[in-house]
Amino acid sequence: MPTTTDVFAKAREHERLPQLKLARELDALPYFRVLEGPTLPVVEMEGKSRIMLGSNNYLGLTGDERVRRGAMAALSRYGTGITGSRFLNGTTDLHIELERELAEWFETEAALVFTTGHQANLGALGTILAPGDTVIADSGDHASILDGCILSRAKLRAFRHNRIDRLERTLERAIGDGGGILVVVDGVFSMEGDVAPLVAIADCCERFGARLMVDEAHALGVLGARGAGTCELLGIEDRVDLRMATFSKSLASCGGVIAGPVDVIDFLRISSRPFMFTASGVPAAIGAALASVRICRSAEGRELFAKVLDNARYLRDGLSALGFGVVPRSRMPDGSELATPVVSVVIGDDWKAVFLWKALFDAGVYVNAVIHPGVPPSGALLRTSVMASHDHATLDRALAAFGAAKRSFEAGHGALPGGA
Ligand SMILES: Cc1ncc(COP(=O)(O)O)c(C=O)c1O
Repeated sequence: MPTTTDVFAKAREHERLPQLKLARELDALPYFRVLEGPTLPVVEMEGKSRIMLGSNNYLGLTGDERVRRGAMAALSRYGTGITGSRFLNGTTDLHIELERELAEWFETEAALVFTTGHQANLGALGTILAPGDTVIADSGDHASILDGCILSRAKLRAFRHNRIDRLERTLERAIGDGGGILVVVDGVFSMEGDVAPLVAIADCCERFGARLMVDEAHALGVLGARGAGTCELLGIEDRVDLRMATFSKSLASCGGVIAGPVDVIDFLRISSRPFMFTASGVPAAIGAALASVRICRSAEGRELFAKVLDNARYLRDGLSALGFGVVPRSRMPDGSELATPVVSVVIGDDWKAVFLWKALFDAGVYVNAVIHPGVPPSGALLRTSVMASHDHATLDRALAAFGAAKRSFEAGHGALPGGA
């Protein structure tokens, strides 16, 4: 008997279909909008200049002449692609140099460069964990962390976002699972822009004998005096076992890295399937990342880190003054406030987020509309992020558009969630 179940049926019947159809009809779909030039503070998008508040180009380096030259030199020397795995013909001297610089920057024994950040998480978690182990993840962790945990077939336990009491309880339960334990968290959470309480997390891990891995995707090149991320900022670099980062944010390129002890990195090098069974990143990506790392590690890096955080504070203060419900700032263990480049506004309802997104888009401001599964159901956000290369005048224009969108939306549909 042939099967009566068509694996394609889900493509025709999935629950998002009516929403998608309506959003398309209203030209209000916030996704796959077409960029027509480089990612700069103001971009060309679908025939109009729009202020870019939806990229992860935190240091503005995608437009930097030295980074472009790094990419072009790699392209001229190695061609357009490497057409093979890192494991085989896909390792160049640029990879070796980049791995050396990254290990120095993180102050770890070694580092391994992957083709994307997603693969770095998949490749580290999926390899270092095994059935019989337990992995504990924050419920706000990035999807690539979750994918890595699933790939490993270790027992996955999640704890409520940034709640140390919940982490402790989860660790107590995990001890009963009987295997090794790894806790994995984002340093800066990608959607909300808040920071993990890493000192308390490291304390817990030590108490329960668990290993700790931190994803520094949104913190590398931004936080800490060296720009090495949240672990540096919070003074716990020597208490964290593995650190992950991507090149697709501050480093203005594409790729990923895992940094840690040399024995673990060497193990990943010869056994991580998402590392071995994919092609090496294109030379231009590696050349650009290397040039960006060098800028971050020079004296200029500190100026850029300060600039992006100043812009984040400016935008956050402006949005709060307009009455938006901005995700609260994180705090250092001493109670002082902590800025990150991601400033998200809580909207709650998916359609409200989409209509506000559209009003901003039409007014010449591009932000990220984030709905489930990017956030929990009914937790829609407008996620904004700044670059070191934005200026206050441009941010003022964006704030004026936010104010106008809010007034016009509330006149027709009632109050949006406000600030605390
Ligand atoms: C926290 C976090 N980890 C990992 C990744 C994956 O990195 P990439 O997009 O470079 O593959 C991202 C990217 O969105 C991220 O935000």
